[in-house]
Amino acid sequence: MIAVYGGGTIGEALTAGLVAAGHTDVTVINRRAERSAYFRETYGVRSSEEPADGAADIVFIAVKPYAVTGVLRGLAPHLAEGATVVSLAAGVTLAQLAGAAPGAQVIRVMPNTPMLARMGMCAIAPAPGVDTAAVEELLQAVGETVVVEEKDMDAVTALSGSSPAYVYLFAEALVDAGVARGLSRTVASKLAIQSIRGAGEMLAGTKAPTQLRYDVTSPGGTTAAALRALEDGGLRSAVFSAVDACAERNRELGKTD
Ligand SMILES: NC(=O)c1ccc[n+]([C@@H]2O[C@H](COP(=O)([O-])OP(=O)(O)OC[C@H]3O[C@@H](n4cnc5c(N)ncnc54)[C@H](OP(=O)(O)O)[C@@H]3O)[C@@H](O)[C@H]2O)c1
Repeated sequence: MIAVYGGGTIGEALTAGLVAAGHTDVTVINRRAERSAYFRETYGVRSSEEPADGAADIVFIAVKPYAVTGVLRGLAPHLAEGATVVSLAAGVTLAQLAGAAPGAQVIRVMPNTPMLARMGMCAIAPAPGVDTAAVEELLQAVGETVVVEEKDMDAVTALSGSSPAYVYLFAEALVDAGVARGLSRTVASKLAIQSIRGAGEMLAGTKAPTQLRYDVTSPGGTTAAALRALEDGGLRSAVFSAVDACAERNRELGKTD
């Protein structure tokens, strides 16, 4: 059986994906009875406010980072022998997880919110010797997975955990720039969002980003003029700084957790 502890944004996205992928053996644990009722009615899963003894082979922890170790200490006596505990919380280390649930197989995952659209990116860092195959398969219900070492989690957070927000900011700026050029906000939004979506699909193909950019940049043309302005504005250097700032903040949060 699979348990999801904490039915918030990420817990619900994961549950929805698992159910859609045909997993019927899912239990969601909430702290509020009305939330449990919502999960039963919406997804047809089992749901309660108390973990069942020894019932789950894999437990996903999807509460806020500050609550993870406390939740896990309460859960530990109910875990089956050799159960796998998967934390989806930012900044909570494998050592903290192992300390709160001695004997469990612990795995740390950095998800991102496009998992709500089943287009998520989950980076999976297992404790030494822990097999990730079953967890990879489950998380593929909400997008793509990659296995990394825990030391890379700060960089992972900057590349996938937080990066959807960088794209949203770019989209917002593009829409505002269109409005400044006289387009209605409705038309500007449609043009910007569909272009970003389409570019995302192109990027998911086999061509590298540089090649895709070459393909749309005619010598002396309009795109070349725009790209020159983006380079003058320091886009590339701003992205490097954003990734450094995000990774550093994740490292700091991990230290204080
Ligand atoms: N959202 C993101 O973009 C994102 C990205 C990467 C990683 N994450 C990680 O995903 C985790 C969940 O984030 P979220 O955005 O889904 O948060 P959220 O929407 O606030 O959901 C947290 C859920 O956990 C429940 N909860 C809190 N304390 C609990 C406890 N002691 N016992 C049982 N349930 C408890 C909350 O219940 P109540 O409703 O009663 O408060 C809520 O349903 C976080 O650790 C975060 O670091 C999130």
